[in-house]
Amino acid sequence: MYTVKLTNNGNEIAITDQSGKSSRFHAIWLRDNAWDPKTRAPGNGQRLITLHDIPNGTHIESFSIFNTKLTLRFMPEGKTVDYDFDWLMKHSYDGSQENYPGWISSALEPWNANLSDSVPTADLGKAQASKSTLQNWLHQVRKYGFGKLTNGPTDTGTLLQVAKLFGYVRETNYGNFFEVRTEVNPTNLAYTSLGLQAHTDNPYRDPVPTLQILYCLENSAEGGENMVVDGFHAAQRLRDENPDWFDVLTKYCAKFEYSGEEGVCLQSRRPMIELAPDGELVSIRFNSRSTAAVTDVPFEHMETYYAAYRRFGEIIDDPEMEVTFKLSPGECFIVDNTRVLHARKGYSGSGSRWLQGCYADKDGLLSTLNALEYKGLKVKQ
Ligand code: FE2
Repeated sequence: MYTVKLTNNGNEIAITDQSGKSSRFHAIWLRDNAWDPKTRAPGNGQRLITLHDIPNGTHIESFSIFNTKLTLRFMPEGKTVDYDFDWLMKHSYDGSQENYPGWISSALEPWNANLSDSVPTADLGKAQASKSTLQNWLHQVRKYGFGKLTNGPTDTGTLLQVAKLFGYVRETNYGNFFEVRTEVNPTNLAYTSLGLQAHTDNPYRDPVPTLQILYCLENSAEGGENMVVDGFHAAQRLRDENPDWFDVLTKYCAKFEYSGEEGVCLQSRRPMIELAPDGELVSIRFNSRSTAAVTDVPFEHMETYYAAYRRFGEIIDDPEMEVTFKLSPGECFIVDNTRVLHARKGYSGSGSRWLQGCYADKDGLLSTLNALEYKGLKVKQ
């Protein structure tokens, strides 16, 4: 049972549910979010009008309630619109918690080395055959920003099938997918047997590829374990240790560049820790190999910037932060390249290590997951 009160000359309403929880809504917001067939296309849910079509000074003249339905009459249009109370309360924007710098969605969970015993893992064949297995695995990938798949074939290009589980490969100058193994005259350090510091891939692109898949075809060399680090957790640790250092890495842009092959000169200018305007952690870019000369930090803040950059790297390198695993042939892992850093320990020249990598994007993954979670939802935004 809901009660409704019209306030502020019809510019607002207050809805109170049976538990006593109250939410205020503005008339203009309600009118813009009407779901009648002249405002929203019944088939795909797309909005058919622009804000320009809603008169300035729109207000609510009157309302009525019938069971779970609220009917509002808007003036000056003289338009009557029905709303579902549950939908309204689910979309309440009144009394949202105050946000703080570096907050993350409740759908995400920061982690450290403690996650080593429970790496999100699924069987590739089962994920391909079972929507519930796929949904569970994608849910974990969203929550932790990485996940493993096991028991796959050892055929070249299988990683493309992994991308097809939820979306599409993003082709780059490295191709549709790329080989990761020792090469003579490497053009990129990823193709040597050196260990690599934890990093996000391709920070020199804008936008960066938001997912990376690394698929193992051979791995008999000594070492070569993969490590992953939660960059969001590292950023929050930096913030808690020293808010000024967190601030300087969010406030000023670094520069990144890659021009290691003929005809390619990729450049970007973005902060190492990127926040949304309301302080939400959006993205981590951290890659010492491709950080260019940073020139957008004021002279008087550059020393602080370097102290912050150094400490951020130390936190990322802290073994307490890392989850380490060795991939067997037919196994792969995926990382959210805007959040989780990955690394490789050095490996010996004996035996072989052959991985294939490709990029994909999070929008497809999250879309597939949302569609599985909200079956039948067809709204395009
Ligand atoms: Fe990488």
